[in-house]
Amino acid sequence: MSTKTVIKKVNEHVGESVTIGAWINNKRSSGKIQFLQLRDGTGYIQGVVVKSEVPESVWDDAKSLTQESSLYVTGVIREEPRSKSGYEMTVTGIEVIHVTSEYPITPKEHGVDFLMDHRHLWLRSPKQRAVMVVRAEIIRAVQEFFNTNGFTKVDPPILTPSAAEDTTELFHIKYFDEDAYLTQSGQLYMEAAAMALGKVYSFGPTFRAEKSKTRRHLIEFWMIEPEMAFVNHEESLEVQEQFVSHVVQSVLKNCRAELETLERDVTKLENIQGSFPRITYDEAIEFLKGKGFDIPWGDDFGAPHETAIAEAYDKPVFITHYPKDIKAFYMKPDPNRPEVVLCADMIAPEGYGEIIGGSQRIDDPELMAERFKEHNLGEAYQWYMDLRTYGTVPHSGFGLGLERTVAWICGLDHVRETIAFPRMLYRLYP
Ligand code: 4AD
Ligand code: MG
Repeated sequence: MSTKTVIKKVNEHVGESVTIGAWINNKRSSGKIQFLQLRDGTGYIQGVVVKSEVPESVWDDAKSLTQESSLYVTGVIREEPRSKSGYEMTVTGIEVIHVTSEYPITPKEHGVDFLMDHRHLWLRSPKQRAVMVVRAEIIRAVQEFFNTNGFTKVDPPILTPSAAEDTTELFHIKYFDEDAYLTQSGQLYMEAAAMALGKVYSFGPTFRAEKSKTRRHLIEFWMIEPEMAFVNHEESLEVQEQFVSHVVQSVLKNCRAELETLERDVTKLENIQGSFPRITYDEAIEFLKGKGFDIPWGDDFGAPHETAIAEAYDKPVFITHYPKDIKAFYMKPDPNRPEVVLCADMIAPEGYGEIIGGSQRIDDPELMAERFKEHNLGEAYQWYMDLRTYGTVPHSGFGLGLERTVAWICGLDHVRETIAFPRMLYRLYP
């Protein structure tokens, strides 16, 4: 009798016979021995089939297996210090499930379009699997951080009657006879939730019909949005640096093998803890001018600006106090300098760009009423005004873009590899 198990758990079965459901990742043969590179999603192990030690049918079955063929393989687990996983299987039995022919993704190089068209299969490759494992660990660490720091998870709606951020990036849909939009951010609803629960966070998909075709933009991306009552701008920055440090340190602790598969330089990540540097928008403008950029006060930063600023630091950097006119209507003006707002963008190191946008929110009902007029916010926002009318309090929040965070931690060139099925400009398939 052999126990059914998975590759990740073979260490519990040394010297025993086990059965594993697996696919063939690769195969080598030296005449009298066949080496099956097996994968089952939980890990990788080599199965060794020795011609002189197995029935002829097992040898022939092994021979029939091609890349991505599926099987149940039975054999004895041995410790093998020379193998990467530390274990090997001496194969005694094979039950072929399906023999694959002409699997389109071979170990040779493929173009990006080809891989994206085959994303449903590309996901099986070791590097793509590693990214998905790291992404899942990031999500786990995010929830751990907020759940252990007094936050309650609240789920904002995905179908909304109005814009949360910029009205030019809305996905319009019909909601029976009404107009509706896919959410761009759960923030406004999270502000309502914070007034009910104190400290809250959301984690969900958000949508932006942005005509941006860059390595940092997705049309559908996932955002983590905490919102905190009685917390000011400065205090929010402290939560942000603790939060991002916790996430990075958790990945370092729990995803060593995956980071190795991704060939990530972990020394750059080990440094991500403690407090992060802060510079104001004004200082950033001066810094950029010193680097030869021609950027007037009042302009927003683009990717080259963010990268130049990030290069000056080996940790994420906060850029604070942006001009009010280039930021969202709900941000609280600096009481000492009303032309700038109490906000910060967190810029990741190594050129990965803005991973967090956040701010203290306007709590003064009169100022909010003014902003409503300036921005023509009508009926659809009345409920949001109520949050200031009834027991308004100072509060702050922020949004972390999951995919940009995954790209940074994994060291990927492009966000298209950070989510299983990316939705991008001109790509909806598969
Ligand atoms: O800076 P943003 O637009 O901020 C908000 O939506 C606020 N309402 C958040 C809040 O305060 N609750 O977006 C936040 C983050 C960005 O820093 C970035 O990481 C990510 O979301 N993001 C995108 N990621 C991938 N593709 C896109 N098109 C993105 N747009 C924003
Ligand atoms: Mg932003």
